[in-house]
Amino acid sequence: MRWILGIETSCDETSAAVLEGRTVRSSVVASQAALHAQWGGVVPEAAARQHVERLNPVLQQALDEAGIRLQQIDAVAVTNRPGLVGALVVGLAAAKALAFVLNKPLVGVNHLEGHLYSAFLTEPDAPIPFPHLALVVSGGHTELILARGHGDYRLLGHTLDDAAGEAFDKTARLLHLGYPGGPEIDRRAQQGNPKAFPFPRARVAEWHFSFSGLKTAVRREVERLQQGNALTEAVKNDLCASFQQAVIDALIEKTMAAVRAASVETLTVVGGVAANSALQRQMRAACDKAGVNLKIPPPKYCTDNAAMIALAGYFRLLSGERADYDLDAYANAPLGDFSNTSR
Ligand SMILES: Nc1ncnc2c1ncn2[C@@H]1O[C@H](COP(=O)(O)OP(=O)(O)OP(=O)(O)O)[C@@H](O)[C@H]1O
Ligand SMILES: [Mg+2]
Repeated sequence: MRWILGIETSCDETSAAVLEGRTVRSSVVASQAALHAQWGGVVPEAAARQHVERLNPVLQQALDEAGIRLQQIDAVAVTNRPGLVGALVVGLAAAKALAFVLNKPLVGVNHLEGHLYSAFLTEPDAPIPFPHLALVVSGGHTELILARGHGDYRLLGHTLDDAAGEAFDKTARLLHLGYPGGPEIDRRAQQGNPKAFPFPRARVAEWHFSFSGLKTAVRREVERLQQGNALTEAVKNDLCASFQQAVIDALIEKTMAAVRAASVETLTVVGGVAANSALQRQMRAACDKAGVNLKIPPPKYCTDNAAMIALAGYFRLLSGERADYDLDAYANAPLGDFSNTSR
């Protein structure tokens, strides 16, 4: 099994990638962010239609960049859960058709498992270190997952309300900073004072997170500033820096406590919010101090991409897993058994 084709259409990125074994030979991502920006968030029906239009050219580009023909593909890995069902079925239909026509194995991949493997895309020759702890911080998820082996996961904790990326996006919308909000808040925070506004750090039980109280605190502050005509660009930068620091403090404190409790040597931080420059810097400092090996993918592999789906699929295929042509799409699909004990 040499060439793996990965397909990802769970939300608003149309993506295809080719792996040669564990090595990425191409990773093409067509983002729909510009389309959805006009509505301030992803519109599911519009996302599905865009996937239909873009998937074929994206697939062709992935093959071209890898320098192979379609007939050389040895297996197809596709995201089939969790995500927008109308968006998922577009990639799923394409994956099934290709697997059928080529008469090659098909495997369905949990999108979150893809994010977990994204931390290892740039080191194809190194063994995957187990056990390790993964902090998944994306648009839809904020989870601490203990990875004990390939396909062997324990969900330690999750957000009780908003995901970290969702909090970034909602705060950006409040400040009229466009969609998605994370990159713009990251940029503005670099020019702001993280101590300007003492936003609350939620104290949440066990290994869980909560960001809705923070979001409300930012909204109240914005309303107060607007009434006093004091919401200048400089103040917006301070709001961004202070909000971002509150998110980072919550993520780092809980994650480092979980690393100690699970006594793992390796931590990965994955998902779109892992691209945040301040989170990366501060998490690295915390891990250096604690002697923990930290792995964060490069930004292009933090946000959604098919390379991570192909890598997760590669290990499933190696273990003998094969999907039937009745493989379905699911909106919700947790990764691993939930348990609030550490190991
Ligand atoms: N530099 C950054 N700082 C903070 N957040 C960021 C940054 N870059 C991207 N994000 C956030 O990452 C999120 C997108 O990440 P990702 O593509 O992994 O999410 P998703 O696929 O929509 O959600 P899920 O994986 O949970 O289904 C958005 O909320 C975006 O604002
Ligand atoms: Mg994602």
